[in-house]
Amino acid sequence: MNYRVPRTRKEIFETLIKGLQRLEYRGYDSAGVAIDGNNHEVKERHIQLVKKKGKVKALDEELYKQDSMDLKVEFETHFGIAHTRWATHGVPSAVNSHPQRSDKGNEFVVIHNGIITNYKDLRKFLESKGYEFESETDTETIAKLIKYVFDNRETEDITFSTLVERVIQQLEGAFALVFKSIHYPGEAVATRRGSPLLIGVRSKCKLSTEQIPILYRTCNVENVKNICKTRMKRLDSSTCLHAVGDKAVEFFFASDASAIIEHTNRVIFLEDDDIAAVADGKLSIHRIKRSASDDPSRAIQTLQMELQQIMKGSIISSLRGRSVAEDHGPHLCNFSAFMQKEIFEQPESVFNTMRGRVNFETNTVLLGGLKDHLKEIRRCRRLIVIGCGTSYHAAVATRQVLEELTELPVMVELASDFLDRNTPVFRDDVCFFVSQSGETADTLLALRYCKDRRALTVGVTNTVGSSISRETDCGVHINAGPEIGVASTKAYTSQFISLVMFGLMMSEDRISLQNRRQEIIRGLRSLPELIKEVLSLEEKIHDLALELYTQRSLLVMGRGYNYATCLEGALKIKEITYMHSEGILAGELKHGPLALVDKQMPVIMVIMKDPCFAKCQNALQQVTARQGRPIILCCKDDTESSKFASKTIELPHTVDCLQGILSVIPLQLLSFHLAVLRGYDVDFPRNLAKSVTVE
Ligand code: G6P
Repeated sequence: MNYRVPRTRKEIFETLIKGLQRLEYRGYDSAGVAIDGNNHEVKERHIQLVKKKGKVKALDEELYKQDSMDLKVEFETHFGIAHTRWATHGVPSAVNSHPQRSDKGNEFVVIHNGIITNYKDLRKFLESKGYEFESETDTETIAKLIKYVFDNRETEDITFSTLVERVIQQLEGAFALVFKSIHYPGEAVATRRGSPLLIGVRSKCKLSTEQIPILYRTCNVENVKNICKTRMKRLDSSTCLHAVGDKAVEFFFASDASAIIEHTNRVIFLEDDDIAAVADGKLSIHRIKRSASDDPSRAIQTLQMELQQIMKGSIISSLRGRSVAEDHGPHLCNFSAFMQKEIFEQPESVFNTMRGRVNFETNTVLLGGLKDHLKEIRRCRRLIVIGCGTSYHAAVATRQVLEELTELPVMVELASDFLDRNTPVFRDDVCFFVSQSGETADTLLALRYCKDRRALTVGVTNTVGSSISRETDCGVHINAGPEIGVASTKAYTSQFISLVMFGLMMSEDRISLQNRRQEIIRGLRSLPELIKEVLSLEEKIHDLALELYTQRSLLVMGRGYNYATCLEGALKIKEITYMHSEGILAGELKHGPLALVDKQMPVIMVIMKDPCFAKCQNALQQVTARQGRPIILCCKDDTESSKFASKTIELPHTVDCLQGILSVIPLQLLSFHLAVLRGYDVDFPRNLAKSVTVE
C-alpha cells in the first residue's frame, strides 16, 4: 500500500506481480489480484478483480489485456492485493482463486492462507440470509461474512478493522487474511491466526515509532459477543506507526519476507489475533485478547536476508555440456533450476551450518540457541523429534546417533500422526520441531500441543522469524540459506548436521564417548570436500537417469544409518518425477516387498561400509536370487557388492553416522535428472507446495 507516494497503475501491477513471483516457489495452481478500478478519489468507486488458473505469468498477461485499465493513471494512495492459491477446497480455477468477493459489485474482497474449518456452517447461515455463493472455497464465506456484518452494522461510522474483528470471532481454523473494500478506499486491514503474516514498512523519512503499542478493546473475553458496545481507545499518533510529518510511506503485507525484501527489510511480525489496519498512511494494531507472548507492542525488526540470496542467476536451458568440474559456488554457476542450484550449494551450506559452532581444534560444539537450556535437556525423560516430509526424514536419519550420544530414548514422529494419536507428552519431555520453512501447519500444531503440555520445545528451522522459530522455547537455525525448490535438498543435509551437532553438544562430558565424538567431529570437518566429490559424479548419474527415465517404478532399499536415505531418495523421486517410488527397509524385504522384485523392476540398493554391511549383503542376495539386477550405491573400495550390480555409483567413505549425508546426494541428483528427462518442471511439481500452511 502506498501513501503519498504517487504510483502509476502499471507500477502497482508490477509490485504485486513481482511479489507473487517471489513466492512462486512455494507451489500454487492459480493466482489473482484486486486493485482500484478508478482513482478512488473519483466518486464512482470500483474494485477490479483479475484471476487466472495457472502461472503468475498468465495472470500478468491477463492484467494487460484489461481494456478498462489505463496503465498511466496515477494513485497517490492505493492498496492492491494479490494471492497465489494452492487448492484445498475446490478445484484450481479462476472462480476458486483469490481474492474472493462479497458480491458481484466487489464491495469487499479478501485473500486468505489457511483453512476455515467451520465454513460449511457459516455458508449455510449466509445462504439462509440470501447470500449467493459462486465458488467452492472456504474463503468465500469470509468475504460474504464481512458484507453481512457491514450490512447489519448498528452505526454508520463503524471502522473497517471493527468489521474484521467481528468476522474473525466467527472463524475457526487457520488464517492469514488481507481485506480491501470500496467502502474504505485507501485502507487495508489484515489479521492472522495460525498462518504467518508480516508487514514491511518503507519510508524515506523517520518513522514515528519503532515499537507499535497494541490497543486492546475495553471489554473482557466473556463480553466478546457484545463487542459492539465496547470502545477501543481513541487512536492518537503514539498508537500508530507512520512517517513523521505524514510524509510518504509504503506498507507491504506478506506471508513471507521473500515477497517484499526488494522493497524493504524493515518488518513487523503479527501475532495470532492481531488486527492490523492502515488508514491515512498510519498503521495501528489492536486485539481483543492479550497475546500469547503478552508483549504489549510489536517491534519493527530488520531482516538480514538479501534478494540475491533467493535468485537463481541466469538460467540455462540444458544441462548437457556443462562441466561438472567447474566451481559450484552458488552465485557463480548457472543452473537450470533452483533445486539443482541448491543441490550444488551443499558443500557451502553444510559448512555454514557448522560455522562458528564446531571447533575442530578443541573438538567442541556450541549451539548458542540451546546453551541456556542444556542442563534441562540433559535431565529430560526422552527426546521427541517431530517433522513432516523431508524434515521428518532428517529426524529418522539422526535418530541412532542421537540415541548413542545423548543416551536418551529418542522418538521420531510425523507431526500429523503424532497429533492424530494424541500422543502422551509430559513436562519432562524435550520436543524438537524440524522444519525448513518453520511454517508447516502440522508441525506448528504439534508444537502448540507440546507447549500446552509444558514440554520444553526446540525449533530446528531454516527461516529466522518463522512461526516455529518464534514459538519454541529455544532452537537452532540451520543456516542453509533460502531454499526455493519445492523438493527439499540442502535443508535436509543441514538439518541432519544440526541434529548431529546437538548430540555432540550433549555428550561433551561423557568420557566414554570421547573417541566417538572426535571421530564424528573429524567426519564433519571433511564433509564439504567429500560432498564436492559426490557432486562430481553428476555425469554418471545423468547417464543412469537416461536408462531409468521411462520406468514406472523405482525401489530404493537400505537399512541402519542409510534407511533415511532410501525414504528421502524415494520421496524426491515421487515429488518431481511422478514415478512410483518406495523407500524400503532392507530388513523388511523378506516380509513383503520382495514380491515386487523381478528381472524388470529397477532396484537401487544403498550398501555402505557400516555395521549393517553384512545384513545388506543378505538383502542383496535375496534380490539377485530373484533375478533382480540392482543398481548399487556403495563405498569406493567395496568390491563385494559391486560384483552383483548392474551398475554402481561409488561414494567416498566417511564415519558411519554421517554417511547418509553423502548417500542421499546421488538420489537428489538422480531425481532431478529423471524429472528433466521426463519433461517436468523441477521447481514446481504438480499438486505440491513448498510451505504447507494448512493441516
Ligand atoms: C512440504 C514440502 C516438502 C517438505 C515438507 C515439510 O510437503 O513439499 O518438501 O519436506 O513440506 O516442510 P518444512 O518446511 O516443515 O520442512
